[in-house]
Amino acid sequence: MTETPSGRVLLAISGYHPQRWLDLFSARRETTLEPDGPNDPSIRYAVVWRHQPNQLKGFPNLKAIFSLGAGVDHIMNDPGLPDVPIVRMVADNLTQYMVEYVVWRVLDHHRQGGLYRAQKQKKIWHEPSQKPANDISVGIMGFGELGAAVAKVLLTLNYKVSGWSRRAKSTPGVTTFHGEDGLAPFLNGTDILVVLLPLTPSTAGIVNYDLLRQLRRRNGLGGAVLINAGRGRLQKDADILKALDDGTLKEATLDVFETEPLPKTSPLWTHSKVFITPHAAATSDPDHLVPSLLAQMEAFERGEPLKNVVDRAAGY
Ligand code: GLV
Repeated sequence: MTETPSGRVLLAISGYHPQRWLDLFSARRETTLEPDGPNDPSIRYAVVWRHQPNQLKGFPNLKAIFSLGAGVDHIMNDPGLPDVPIVRMVADNLTQYMVEYVVWRVLDHHRQGGLYRAQKQKKIWHEPSQKPANDISVGIMGFGELGAAVAKVLLTLNYKVSGWSRRAKSTPGVTTFHGEDGLAPFLNGTDILVVLLPLTPSTAGIVNYDLLRQLRRRNGLGGAVLINAGRGRLQKDADILKALDDGTLKEATLDVFETEPLPKTSPLWTHSKVFITPHAAATSDPDHLVPSLLAQMEAFERGEPLKNVVDRAAGY
């Protein structure tokens, strides 16, 4: 039996049952769902998904906070966040899911899945005109780990790919834009907008009518398309509906929403031009992610620096 390292892991998860995470962590480290009081000295790491505000303050030996997801907005919102490193989840498995999701949705919009589904309902045998991928420009907003991985696969399918990020980035084959000045030229050349931005005070509500209006609409798709697989509060649901109804957008795929679960009363549910998934684009799978979290903890204890540490000032 391997020696259990001293210092416990606190699993602070809400929204789903953490049993599988608990089992996998407990096999290698002492792990708890409930600390022994608010100042429990035995807690060394917190592994969190939508923890309660102020739940992490006061543990004198807490060394790091690990996010179970790629996004860390659920952590940054905590007013009582202790001053320890926060680690984003970067894992091949999570990236793979996101690549699959975005490529699936890009192909479906480009190859007119919505039209064919509607035609099937009415038994219509009609071949619409179809542009090839190299006529379509996919713009990825938020060009980090996930965006770059998505771009790589889209390029192999011959799409034109561009990326927009806060700071300048460069990737072979991708036209990159950055900062406020880069936003309009990025949007003006984009047919399918893929949103993978982190949610921060400066990105909240960025996907609004004014932004959607700047997308290119002259392409062979018959209109611009939005795919948001980032965070719901990046977008204004009402602006997306308006853009769909006045033709600013041809179609949208939404994995995320201002309020989740999406309220039954939302007109997005029944809109014929909207494809909906329930925040399922890239799921955090404990069997794949726990080993990498444990490896990070072990490396840290050997004196190696933590990887994928959040820049607190930037908020991601
Ligand atoms: C999921 O939403 C994530 O942040 O990974």
